Amino acid sequence: MLEVLSVTKTYRQRGRTITALDDVSLTIPDGALYGIAGRSGAGKSTLFRILTALQRPDSGKVVIDGDDLFSLSRRALRERRRKIGIVFQQFNLLHGRTAAQNIEFPLELAGVPAEQRRQRVGDLLDLVGLADRADNYPSQLSGGQKQRVGIARALASEPSVLLSDEATSALDGETTKQILDLLSQVNRELGVSVVIITHELDILRRHASHVAAFDGGRLVEDGPVLSLITDPASRIGHDLLPRFTSAPSHGIRRALVTLRGEEHAAGFLADYGKDADYRVLSGAVYDVVGEHLARYELDLPDEAAVAALDSRSSDAITVEYA
Ligand SMILES: Nc1ncnc2c1ncn2[C@@H]1O[C@H](COP(=O)(O)OP(=O)(O)O)[C@@H](O)[C@H]1O
Ligand SMILES: [Mg+2]
Repeated sequence: MLEVLSVTKTYRQRGRTITALDDVSLTIPDGALYGIAGRSGAGKSTLFRILTALQRPDSGKVVIDGDDLFSLSRRALRERRRKIGIVFQQFNLLHGRTAAQNIEFPLELAGVPAEQRRQRVGDLLDLVGLADRADNYPSQLSGGQKQRVGIARALASEPSVLLSDEATSALDGETTKQILDLLSQVNRELGVSVVIITHELDILRRHASHVAAFDGGRLVEDGPVLSLITDPASRIGHDLLPRFTSAPSHGIRRALVTLRGEEHAAGFLADYGKDADYRVLSGAVYDVVGEHLARYELDLPDEAAVAALDSRSSDAITVEYA
């Protein structure tokens, strides 16, 4: 588990004080794929540097798996940092080393014996799909391949958490998707917590289990993605999955129905049709956190239709009104 407790960080610039993080507390559960969202200047990169112990906060704590990072000695902190996996935006590969040698580098620093290193590098190359590129230098690899090497290198010391700050912003759309799929796979298959910092909400809607939204150095909202997008009061939930998109209605009320799980979505409209003469204004199925989520915008003709819809609401079926 990774905990941020009342972290504040300010910068001084030309006599002015900029509060980059203002009393931020959050918890990243084990095994989460935790997305951090916010506009430029929101404080995301500052939080990233503090979570990875590249920078100290002015006050507050970061506790990873029980270790209070900033109360460790310098040496202990250096050791501890080896267990925090970092994926860099510009890959930060060593140009004079092959893909395999880049992945091996942290293992050399940690004094892992050669035979064990070889084995581990082989496994990691397989994991990131670059077994046939082991002997290529960074200049011989595409951006996506370089980032795969970066991810393998970050995983070499078996971290409990992998953090990335805009790790795909140097990549095109299709490559971005592949890299995020790889990070999801690492999260699922290795059980490593993954923190993805991005301003692209589309990425978070598809991949994140939890999202925290930042604005002006403050944490404004956080929680499981499914809870956020089915909570009518959630701003980030609305940004992740917009509500009420369509045309004017003619009935007495306009309802937004969100259905989780295919078994509910499939029969819902037919079943509701037995009780109400509704009109569908829009409907779509989204991939959210590996689940299918169906959303219908309905035009309801009368109070009986409203009552019939209300009676169907459950954990899996959320009903909201415009
Ligand atoms: N080294 C620095 N010196 C002065 N101000 C900084 C520094 N780094 C970040 N800031 C300021 O702190 C705020 C948060 O920045 P940052 O954490 O980079 O946000 P984000 O990554 O969300 O765009 C911004 O107002 C930024 O200008
Ligand atoms: Mg940033």
